[in-house]
Amino acid sequence: MHFKLIQFIVILIAKSTHQQDSTLFDMRAGDPFNPDTELCCGSKSHPYTGPHSYERCCGENLFDITREMCCGSAIFKFQSGFACCGNKYFNASQSICCANKITLPLHDISSPKSRISCCANSTYNTQTHLCCYGTEVVEMKYGNKTGCCGPRVYDMSRQVCCVSDYTVVDATGKSSVCCGKLAFEPATHVCCPGKKIAKKISDYAFDCCGTETYDRETHVCCGGVVILRGSNISCCDGIQFDSTAQLCCRGSDASHKVVAKKTQNHVVCCEKEAFDPQHQLCCNGLVFDSENGTVKCCDNRTFRKSEAVCCDYLKGGLKRKQGENHTACCDSVTYDSTTHSCCNNSVVIKKTPDQNSCCGNIPFNSQISTCCIVSNSSRVYDVSNNALIGCCGLDIYRLGQDGCCYGKKYSLRAGQGCCGSSVYQLRDGLCCGDQFLPQNVTEGTYGCCANKVYNKEKELCCLGSQIKAKLHPEQRECCFHSLSADHCPYWDNFFPTHKEERNF
Ligand SMILES: *[C@@H]1O[C@H](CO)[C@@H](O)[C@H](O)[C@H]1NC(C)=O
Ligand SMILES: *[C@@H]1O[C@H](CO)[C@@H](O)[C@H](O)[C@H]1NC(C)=O
Ligand SMILES: *[C@@H]1O[C@H](CO)[C@@H](O)[C@H](O)[C@H]1NC(C)=O
Ligand SMILES: *[C@@H]1O[C@H](CO)[C@@H](O)[C@H](O)[C@H]1NC(C)=O
Ligand SMILES: *[C@@H]1O[C@H](CO)[C@@H](O)[C@H](O)[C@H]1NC(C)=O
Ligand SMILES: *[C@@H]1O[C@H](CO)[C@@H](O)[C@H](O)[C@H]1NC(C)=O
Ligand SMILES: *[C@@H]1O[C@H](CO)[C@@H](O)[C@H](O)[C@H]1NC(C)=O
Ligand SMILES: *[C@@H]1O[C@H](CO)[C@@H](O)[C@H](O)[C@H]1NC(C)=O
Ligand SMILES: *[C@@H]1O[C@H](CO)[C@@H](O)[C@H](O)[C@H]1NC(C)=O
Ligand SMILES: *[C@@H]1O[C@H](CO)[C@@H](O)[C@H](O)[C@H]1NC(C)=O
Repeated sequence: MHFKLIQFIVILIAKSTHQQDSTLFDMRAGDPFNPDTELCCGSKSHPYTGPHSYERCCGENLFDITREMCCGSAIFKFQSGFACCGNKYFNASQSICCANKITLPLHDISSPKSRISCCANSTYNTQTHLCCYGTEVVEMKYGNKTGCCGPRVYDMSRQVCCVSDYTVVDATGKSSVCCGKLAFEPATHVCCPGKKIAKKISDYAFDCCGTETYDRETHVCCGGVVILRGSNISCCDGIQFDSTAQLCCRGSDASHKVVAKKTQNHVVCCEKEAFDPQHQLCCNGLVFDSENGTVKCCDNRTFRKSEAVCCDYLKGGLKRKQGENHTACCDSVTYDSTTHSCCNNSVVIKKTPDQNSCCGNIPFNSQISTCCIVSNSSRVYDVSNNALIGCCGLDIYRLGQDGCCYGKKYSLRAGQGCCGSSVYQLRDGLCCGDQFLPQNVTEGTYGCCANKVYNKEKELCCLGSQIKAKLHPEQRECCFHSLSADHCPYWDNFFPTHKEERNF
C-alpha cells in the first residue's frame, strides 16, 4: 500500500504537464501500474501512448481530445454547439445549464433581445423578469425600477421595502427609509425608539423626545417635552418644575415629588418636603424646628440635649437624662461619658479621663495599657514602657524573650516549641494540633497533616487532612477534584505506569 502511494506521487509529478485538464488522481485506492508503460486515471491504469498522445483522463477512462468531450467524468462524442452541464453534454442552442441541470429556457433563446440567465436551477429573461434572492423568478412589473421585497415586488421609484417584515410602503421623498412600517426622510426626521418618527428641530438634534428631537447640548427632554437648558424650568423625573420656586425631592421609596419652596431658604429636601437647614431639622423625613440649634434628631423625633439622651434604637431610643452631664447610654441607663465608661453593659467610673476602652468590666487607656481577657476574667497591665508585651492567658509576657504555650508562660530557649500547654524540644518530634508525636525529625522531612505526621518526601497532605502516598517524586500537588488518587486525572495521565514506579 505504501509503495503504491509513492508510485502515484511519482507519476503525478512526472506526467503533470500533459494531464492538466483531466481528473485528479484518487489517492485512496487503485490498480497497481507501471509508470513507464501505463497512464493512471483515477484508480484505473491504461496503456501509455507517449508524450504526444491526444489522450487524456476523464474520470477513470481515457478520451481523445480531438474527437471527444469530457463532461465531469463522462465522455461524449464532440458536437459543435454543445456544452457540458455536470456529467451531461447538451445542445446549447436549445437549453441552458443552471446549477448542473439542463433546463429549457423560459423565453426564446434565439431572440436577439432575450438575455437568459439562471436563477437557481431555472432560467429567466433578464429583460422581463427578476431573480429575487437568487432563488425566485418574478415579473418586472415596474420595469427596471422593480425591486424584491420578500415574497413581492415593489416600485423602487415610489415605494420603500421595510425589511423587518417585508412590507411595502409609499416613499415620502427621494431617499426614504423605513421606521418600523412607516417611511421617513432621514434628512428631516429621525426614527425614535418604539418605531416612532420624530421631526428634527435642528441639524444637531438627533436625540428623541416624544415626537420631537432635541439637541442635548442646549435642551433637556422632560417627560416627552423638550425644554431649554438654563431656563428656570427643570426636570424632576419627567415632571417640569420651576427651579426658582420649587424643589425636586426624592423620597425614601425613590419616587420623586415637586414641592414648593416656602421661603428662599427652603433649598434642601427632607425626603419629600422642602426644609430650611438654618432653622429646621430633618429627622428621618420629618421636618422640625431646630429651635436655634437647641434640639437634635433622635430617629424620627427631636430632643433637647439638656433633657434627654438619644440611645441606640435597640436600647430604647430617646431616654430622659438621669444626670446633669449625661451624654451617652449604657444598656438602658444614661451616663456622663467624661467621667464614666460603659463596660460590659454596666456603668463604671473612670479613674482618669483618658480611659478610652474597656477591659472586661474595667475601663482602661488602650494607648498605654494592655488588656488580657480569658473568658469572663480580665486584667489590665501598664505597658507604656514596653511595646513588646503580649498576653499569655491572663498574664503578660515579653515577646521574643518568653514563650507562651496556650496561656502558660515559660522561659523560651532555642530549639523549643509549644505543644498544647507544654514545651517540647523541636528535634524530638513534631507537634500536630495539640498532640506531640515523637519522631526522628533529623532524618527526612516531616510535617503535620491535621494532627498526624507525614513524610513530605514520600507523602502528600491533601485537603489539609488526608495523607496520600506519592506515586512519583514529581507529584507535588494534590488533585483538586478528587480525594482518591485512583480517580485523579493528574496522577493517572502523567504517571500511567505508577504501579511499577512506586519504589523510589
Ligand atoms: C441543436 O439545436 C438547434 C436549435 O434547436 C438545432 O437546430 C440543431 O439541429 C440541434 N443540434 C443537434 C445536433 O441536435
Ligand atoms: C433545483 O435544484 C434543487 C437541488 O439542486 C432541487 O432540490 C430543486 O427541486 C430544484 N428545483 C427545480 C425547480 O428543479
Ligand atoms: C432603465 O433605466 C435606464 C436608466 O438607468 C433608462 O434609461 C431606461 O429607459 C430604463 N428602461 C426601462 C425599460 O425602464
Ligand atoms: C427665572 O426666574 C427669575 C426669578 O423669578 C426671573 O427673574 C428670570 O427672568 C427667570 N428666567 C427665565 C429664563 O425665565
Ligand atoms: C432663637 O434666638 C433668637 C435670637 O437669639 C430669639 O429671638 C428666638 O426667640 C429664639 N427662638 C427659639 C425658638 O428659642
Ligand atoms: C417614628 O419611628 C417609629 C419607629 O420607626 C414609628 O413607629 C413611628 O410611627 C414614627 N413616628 C412618626 C411620627 O413617623
Ligand atoms: C457637669 O459638668 C460641669 C462642667 O464640667 C460641672 O461643673 C458639674 O459639676 C457637672 N455635674 C455633675 C453632676 O457632674
Ligand atoms: C460581663 O458581665 C457578666 C454579667 O455581669 C459577667 O458574668 C462577665 O464575667 C463579664 N465579662 C467580663 C469579660 O468581665
Ligand atoms: C466565669 O464563667 C465560668 C463559666 O464559664 C463560671 O464557672 C465562673 O464562675 C465565672 N466567673 C466569674 C468571676 O464570673
Ligand atoms: C535519628 O537519626 C539519626 C541519623 O540517622 C541518628 O543518628 C539518631 O541516633 C536518631 N535518633 C533517634 C532518637 O532515633
